Amino acid sequence: MSERRKNGLYAGISEELSALMRTGWADTERHDLQPDEQAPYAADRRAALSARFPGERLVIPSGNLKTRSNDDTYPFRPYSGYVHMTGDQARDGALVLEPRAGGGHDAYCYQLPRDSRDDDEFWSGYHAELWMGRRRSLAESARVLGLACRDVRTAAEDLASSSTSSGVPTRIVRGIDPALEAAVSTDEERDADLEQALSDLRVIKDEWEIKEMRGAVDSTVRGFTDVVGELSTAVASSERWIEGTFYRRARLEGNHVGYGSICAAGEHATIMHWTDNDGPVRPGDLLLLDAGVESRTLYTADVTRTLPINGTFTPVQRKVYDAVYEAQEAGFAAVKPGAAYRDFHEASQRHLATRLVEWGFIEGPADRAYELGLQRRFTMAGTGHMLGLDVHDCAQARNEEYVDGPLQPGMILTVEPGLYFQPDDLTVPEEWRGIGVRIEDDLLVTDAGHENLSAGLPRSAEDVEAWMGRVAG
Ligand code: GLY
Ligand code: MN
Repeated sequence: MSERRKNGLYAGISEELSALMRTGWADTERHDLQPDEQAPYAADRRAALSARFPGERLVIPSGNLKTRSNDDTYPFRPYSGYVHMTGDQARDGALVLEPRAGGGHDAYCYQLPRDSRDDDEFWSGYHAELWMGRRRSLAESARVLGLACRDVRTAAEDLASSSTSSGVPTRIVRGIDPALEAAVSTDEERDADLEQALSDLRVIKDEWEIKEMRGAVDSTVRGFTDVVGELSTAVASSERWIEGTFYRRARLEGNHVGYGSICAAGEHATIMHWTDNDGPVRPGDLLLLDAGVESRTLYTADVTRTLPINGTFTPVQRKVYDAVYEAQEAGFAAVKPGAAYRDFHEASQRHLATRLVEWGFIEGPADRAYELGLQRRFTMAGTGHMLGLDVHDCAQARNEEYVDGPLQPGMILTVEPGLYFQPDDLTVPEEWRGIGVRIEDDLLVTDAGHENLSAGLPRSAEDVEAWMGRVAG
């Protein structure tokens, strides 16, 4: 990437410097690395994928650095399907499942190895280890991942020749690594089936993933508590203070935030994906905070609380809040194994339609309003989604595995009803305008029903007020 920048201060590299740099380095190969705790789970996930595509070569890349400007790049985040199948987070990697003659697949992983000290790139390349940090050697990666590892710099050539010479049909996940994609000759629809299968296989979380999700949610609870503790500083500053406060917790305990934090005070709460976070934080208004810590293993929480900035709801804010709370309770009651996935959404939306009819904002009766979807003017979004490595996890999964299927133990989903009265909505009384309330929790479906993983944060209006009274700074 360094070729994108012309104005370096050094004119060139002398032969003496080049020779000096190549010598005098210790052998830093690590022989103490242990297999990753996730490795056996990733092996089981690969076995499940293998069973879906007998006799076919499967290529699942991790992705590359993306340029922000010149030689500067965005922070790297690997493709979630690669992470799920390997437990790895390296850039420029690719998992390959190669079909075996007798059935099943052999798995190996392309990785960018350590930089050789035999040329200038290792110290002059902007994305080299000396500038970006140490990578693992191929032998180290093999030990950690429990996978044979090969040098990714030959991957495009290897895959191009094996996809033309072997007669083995190949599929690749598209849109992740353009060079590998160009190297293999594949069919777009068949490739989409691979991506779909990778999504399907994430619908039910294994015990290791559930543990990671608990950790992400627990960090998120601490992040929300941090924000409440700093509300008075935010009042003197802006929504940005809230964003930064939560972000500090996310970086400290996790990898990052799992999505752009929505720190929406006042009428910004009616904007579903408000991430500018540059508005004022005013006592008397509500703060809608929708944020999630992404664990160091890249699993994310997704939690929302709507908080009265001065610690007490006004009567109209409370009316809206209670309706959303009751809708969430109705949604929770429908989260149990064997229920249709859509049941929790329907239960929540029916409740909100009923309240909106009672308030005279939509025409009843409530059942008719719900069937026509009239509540959507004020509820805007669906009531939840799968959660895991991605905030909107399993987005490519087949409908019958997800929205049209039954809930099953091991699924993790959000239940997040909301009501949003736009500031310019002339169909509601003036004092309702600009109020937005969402309450969002992360539920694990269990054999007995569900467990609310984010129950560590208060939800009812009374509990929120009492909590803020104890914690607010
Ligand atoms: N919490 C962000 C979303 O669900 O869209
Ligand atoms: Mn959500």
